[in-house]
Amino acid sequence: MNQAEKEAYLREYSILKNQGKPFFPYAVAKDSVMAVVVMIVIIFLAAMFGAELGPKADPTTTTYVPRPDWYFYFLFEVLRVMRNIPKFTDLATIGVPTICMILLFLLPFYDRSPERRIERRPVALAAGLTTIFAMAFLTYTGANTGSPNTVDLQPPASLTAQQKAIFRAGALVVGNSGCLACHVLGNNGNDGPGPPLTHIGRILRPEAIASTLRNPTAPMPSFAALAKQNPRQFYDLINFLGELQ
Ligand code: HEC
Repeated sequence: MNQAEKEAYLREYSILKNQGKPFFPYAVAKDSVMAVVVMIVIIFLAAMFGAELGPKADPTTTTYVPRPDWYFYFLFEVLRVMRNIPKFTDLATIGVPTICMILLFLLPFYDRSPERRIERRPVALAAGLTTIFAMAFLTYTGANTGSPNTVDLQPPASLTAQQKAIFRAGALVVGNSGCLACHVLGNNGNDGPGPPLTHIGRILRPEAIASTLRNPTAPMPSFAALAKQNPRQFYDLINFLGELQ
């Protein structure tokens, strides 16, 4: 701001100030009345319609998929993506949002530009739009991620009804066996440390998949015990993976 601009601003400010009313009590009184009205409306709505709390918690469930409220989906998505890289998980989920909050808090101290027109403030505009798009994108992907313990893949139409049943049974075994902790299948699971299995049937023959499951390379755990104790489930699992073309 140069000298002339500053004087013009101060002149305008003193005129406006003389015309106006003091903040206390006028604005405070207005705000208080509005706050009371909002409170009365909320109390009225709560008394009339009650609050939707969702189903009761069931401590015995094993299929519960924990999800945050929608306004935390962006943070949930960051955590979901970053938890495969433990070194950076804390930095990404706590550090970066905290730094952003501090930067926002300190904005009046480091952004001293008097310019108010948005088209003359490319940096602020870019930063604002980037934040909005990043949070919208993370919220959307966070809201649409699949469950960590089920596989949402449909059997190929070419299969017979019996083969489709085996496909579904195999998908269930994958969901219950913890494969999704390390592998991606369609929209489910984690990308790493294992390779994606979405098209594993194209890469490995069923015999090769079976031998990988019996004698895997670390850190993949061996599923030889499953093959021994529950050959039916193991068979369904191999067939399911073999069909993933
Ligand atoms: C602890 C993590 C982990 C779990 C759990 C896990 N895997 Fe793996 N899996 C891996 C890793 C890592 C590799 C790659 C090993 C290598 O490089 O040879 C792998 C490799 C594979 C391969 C070979 C892929 C290829 O392209 O060669 C198959 C098939 C496979 N896993 C299937 C499964 C199935 C099915 C389950 C569940 C029943 C499962 N994995 C559970 C980590 C895991």
